[in-house]
Amino acid sequence: MPSLLHIDASIRRTGSVSRELSAHFATQWRQNHADGGYSYRDLATQPIPHITHAVREALLDPSGEHGVPPEERALTETLTAELREATTLLLGIPMYNYSIPSTIKAWVDRLVTPAHMVAPSGDPGLLSGKSVVVVTARGGSYAPGTPREGWDYQEPYLRAVLHSIGLADNLTFVHAELTLAATVPQMAPLKPLAEQSLAAAYETLKTLAL
Ligand SMILES: Cc1cc2nc3c(=O)[nH]c(=O)nc-3n(C[C@H](O)[C@H](O)[C@H](O)COP(=O)(O)O)c2cc1C
Repeated sequence: MPSLLHIDASIRRTGSVSRELSAHFATQWRQNHADGGYSYRDLATQPIPHITHAVREALLDPSGEHGVPPEERALTETLTAELREATTLLLGIPMYNYSIPSTIKAWVDRLVTPAHMVAPSGDPGLLSGKSVVVVTARGGSYAPGTPREGWDYQEPYLRAVLHSIGLADNLTFVHAELTLAATVPQMAPLKPLAEQSLAAAYETLKTLAL
C-alpha cells in the first residue's frame, strides 16, 4: 500500500511557504492515492532532542545495553518505523543560514544508521526504492548566475546524506526562491521572479503527486 510520510520544519506557524507547498503536495497525493496511508510530523512544534552518545551507541548496536532512557529508545524506534513504512517521503524545509534547520539535522542523526546505510558492496539498504520530495523555501536565490550561486548548503548536503541511506533513487528537489521579496522593501523588484518561482513549485508538485 502506498504511504506518505510528511514532515515540516518551518518555525513559522502561518505564512510559511514550505508548509504551504508541502501541504499542497500532501493534499494532491492523498487525493491521488485514496487508499494510501499518511503520517505527519512537525519538527518545529515537536522537536527531536539532539542525539546523545548513548543513543548513538544504541543505533550502532541495537541489541546492546547502552543506558538509553526508554522514551529516547521509543522515539528512535518510532522515527525509524515511520520512515520504513513510507513509500513516499515529503520534507518541507526552510533555508536557515544557507542550510537546513537543526530540527531536520536532529531527525537525520537518528536515521543514518548501519541498518540503513547503502553498502559499498552494492547492497541498496532497507530504505531503497522510496520516492523522496524535498520542498524548500528560501528568502534569496541560489540559481546559476545569481550573486549567491554556490551558497546553497541545503540541497548538496541533503543529496549526500539521503544518498548514503538509499533515499536518492527517486529524489526531487523543488525550491521556492526569493520568498523575502514579499516583505523586504529592498527586494521589491524581485517580486515577479519570486511569484514565478512559487508558481513553478506548485506546478511541479502537482505533477510529482500523481
Ligand atoms: C533563522 C533564519 C535564517 C534564515 N537564513 C536564510 C538564508 O541563509 N538564506 C536565505 O535565502 N533565506 C534565509 N532565511 C529566510 C527563509 O529562508 C525564508 O523566509 C523562507 O521562506 C522560510 O521558510 P518558510 O516560509 O517555510 O518559513 C532565514 C530565515 C530565518 C528565520
